[in-house]
Amino acid sequence: MARVQRRRPRLDELRPLVKVARPTLDRTGRALARANTIEDLRHIARRRTPRSAFDYVDGAAESEVSLTRAREAFGRVEFRPQVLRDVSRIETSVSVLDVTSPIPLILAPTGFTRMMHHEGERAVGRAAAAAGIPYTLSTMGTVSVEDLAADVPDVQRWFQLYLWQDRKASLALMDRARAAGYSTLVLTVDTSVGGERLRDVRNGMTIPPQLTPRTLADMALHPRWWANLLTTEPLEFASLRGSGGTVEQLINRMFDPTLTTKDLEWLRASWPGAIVLKGIQNVDDARDFVDLGVDGLIVSNHGGRQLDRSVTPLEVLPEIAGAVGGRVPVLLDTGVMHGGDIVAAVANGADAVLVGRAYLYGLMAGGEPGVARALDILTTQVHRTMRLLGVTSLDQLTPDRAVLHAAGTSAPSQHA
Ligand SMILES: Cc1cc2nc3c(=O)[nH]c(=O)nc-3n(C[C@H](O)[C@H](O)[C@H](O)COP(=O)(O)O)c2cc1C
Repeated sequence: MARVQRRRPRLDELRPLVKVARPTLDRTGRALARANTIEDLRHIARRRTPRSAFDYVDGAAESEVSLTRAREAFGRVEFRPQVLRDVSRIETSVSVLDVTSPIPLILAPTGFTRMMHHEGERAVGRAAAAAGIPYTLSTMGTVSVEDLAADVPDVQRWFQLYLWQDRKASLALMDRARAAGYSTLVLTVDTSVGGERLRDVRNGMTIPPQLTPRTLADMALHPRWWANLLTTEPLEFASLRGSGGTVEQLINRMFDPTLTTKDLEWLRASWPGAIVLKGIQNVDDARDFVDLGVDGLIVSNHGGRQLDRSVTPLEVLPEIAGAVGGRVPVLLDTGVMHGGDIVAAVANGADAVLVGRAYLYGLMAGGEPGVARALDILTTQVHRTMRLLGVTSLDQLTPDRAVLHAAGTSAPSQHA
């Protein structure tokens, strides 16, 4: 065997190889910089947030099958790339109704956001504004429609409505949202009753959190979170009276199981802007609601937080988009954890995608910089996926570029 000739390395050869990171005292900044995926942010979030708050975000209804299947469906997508295309410049921006976004992404409404991080909706709004991505404030928000608009005036904002049994109160809230510059109303239609979120039940999660022996013990583990909770404005819903109890109890107390398409006419007469229905899972519903004049649809099972074993949004999307035939924008949410998921949804008929947990993991991991990191990760992944696919614009994303295989089948060979 030939012997390897060895030599002593010269100092001037070693110098360029030595990389000493500039020391920083910012622990959060260091942790966020090391996060490369939304899953990484989720891990940081889990360490930094009390269990009941983390589980409120991370969990879904009953056996969590709706959420598991929705995420797993994105894993069944097979991207079909083409090569030797000039992908140095790509165009990924979209307009949906009255908003624009640099990637096909809008932030979904999430209730009780100041429980995840004391800056809550304001932190999300600021990160969204900086990225140019629209944000939907929830009826169950912990910052009022006026305060978010005043504190983050340049965020493009939609307002999500749960229509209460008390129509006068609903109308008053809609008027306030309109006056505060919320351009589109997103009516959530999949909450006739509250889903059974077993993790919340088991954790004894109440709103606001109660100081039980268990929560007191948790203070030792997450002192900073608790200090922030107890030293900032009281944690309560900004637009709801009568909070208290579990989320499910609150939904059942406040929301209206008698809601029908008749109420859409009332809504149309009461709201001058666009109306988008959130929680569509059925082709006939989609067709009927567009005929009734709604301006957009969100194919969603509410992040798996309502009906368990429900329809998987990515699977029903092509049929719904086909039935709607471009008459109104069709959006999708549930289970999106990667920019490639956004690309796959657009290829299968979505005009844009909404995410809930993806930005909340960022928020729990590090407040506004954490949300910014989540948006940056998703944006980078959208760009990289499109370039590797060999497409330069969203209209080149056709279903044949992101083929969804049926559950339980392996990907067919291209020669089959
Ligand atoms: C913690 C949390 C709170 C939510 N609150 C609301 C809400 O107040 N109104 C609503 O319409 N949807 C709500 N959703 C559902 C989201 O708008 C969205 O449909 C869902 O998060 C999408 O799934 P993903 O989290 O996998 O992205 C909530 C979701 C989460 C995770």
